[in-house]
Amino acid sequence: MVVTGGAGFVGSHAVEFFADRGWNVVAIDNMSRGEMLGRSGTDTPKYNWNYLSGKNRITLLNASVTDAERMEKLVSNADAVIHTAGQVAVTTSLTDPRRDFETNMLGTFNVLEACRKSGRNPAVIFCSTNKVYGENVNRLPVRLNGDRYEYTDKAFEHGIPESFSVDGCEHTPYGASKLAADLYVQEYSHTYGLKAAVFRMSCIYGTRQFGNEDQGWVAHFILSALRNKKITIYGDGKQVRDVLFVSDLIAAYNAFLESPLKGGLFNMGGGSENTLSLLELVERIEKMTGRRPDISFDEWRNGDQKVYISDIRKAIKQLGWKPKVSVEEGLQRLENWAAGA
Ligand SMILES: NC(=O)c1ccc[n+]([C@@H]2O[C@H](COP(=O)([O-])OP(=O)(O)OC[C@H]3O[C@@H](n4cnc5c(N)ncnc54)[C@H](O)[C@@H]3O)[C@@H](O)[C@H]2O)c1
Repeated sequence: MVVTGGAGFVGSHAVEFFADRGWNVVAIDNMSRGEMLGRSGTDTPKYNWNYLSGKNRITLLNASVTDAERMEKLVSNADAVIHTAGQVAVTTSLTDPRRDFETNMLGTFNVLEACRKSGRNPAVIFCSTNKVYGENVNRLPVRLNGDRYEYTDKAFEHGIPESFSVDGCEHTPYGASKLAADLYVQEYSHTYGLKAAVFRMSCIYGTRQFGNEDQGWVAHFILSALRNKKITIYGDGKQVRDVLFVSDLIAAYNAFLESPLKGGLFNMGGGSENTLSLLELVERIEKMTGRRPDISFDEWRNGDQKVYISDIRKAIKQLGWKPKVSVEEGLQRLENWAAGA
């Protein structure tokens, strides 16, 4: 198995999980996260490389998915590819759209071509995002219910389904590069018969995640609180997300690999039963740590969603999977790790 972005948050959890299950895993990463985000303290790759190094059945390689030839060689012996490598922040995509495009679109295309040419028909898992639905999500009417926003339309009481329109709206360059890659993955499944799944992920959180203001807000809030750093909340803090603990995400990947499905498109998150508003997270952090995080408020950011909840019923039905880690337990696990990180 090849895991791209294997030193990243999601990638490193995939590497560890599948190596523990007996797969020989080649993890590749170009260690660019900190540089791409332009922030210190976000260097997930170095931390995770150290964490994974020396473990059985894991090979760590410094390589870029933008290098087509290298990808072909690396994938030539693989039975499965988990493609997590990416430019991950909307903010960076706005300031450096070329790098965003090359990493997310060209990188994914190289992975797919490597799979097509290998002749082994490897299974492919692609980390897409809810941002593919772009501004269409923000056109849904919402109302305040106490301290959180909710959709007013009953049709979305379970969240946003895969059939939701991706057309006719702004996406940000990140949303567009991910959507283009997402469509290519679906296309390679239809046209070339690759067993390929697209997971349109919302908010994934967990241990070994160095979140920051631009990406990974749950970890960002907890790390900042523990380090006595100020947290800026953009908007009123009542915005709501569904959150999924990383081990549950990897369990969904595994369920797809073990399933007879030939391909798939899944909205993936904690679903309507595992949601959190920003202010609710601040409350929970205070309960866990005994300290009130130092927060301040600023203007809403462009494209911020008031509510995003994944409708995960298709994944539940087709993958025989469901989230197991409650929000309470997941936050506690993240806090335990963050306290020692
Ligand atoms: N974490 C989330 O909540 C979330 C939500 C939606 C989608 N996603 C997607 O899931 C994937 C993984 O996210 P994450 O949270 O683990 O991010 P991450 O930044 O921790 O991991 C991404 C890894 O990819 C590596 N990388 C970047 N460019 C590369 C290249 N050209 N070649 C090889 N490696 C490269 C980075 O160094 C990093 O280690 C990303 O594609 C992201 O867009 C994540």
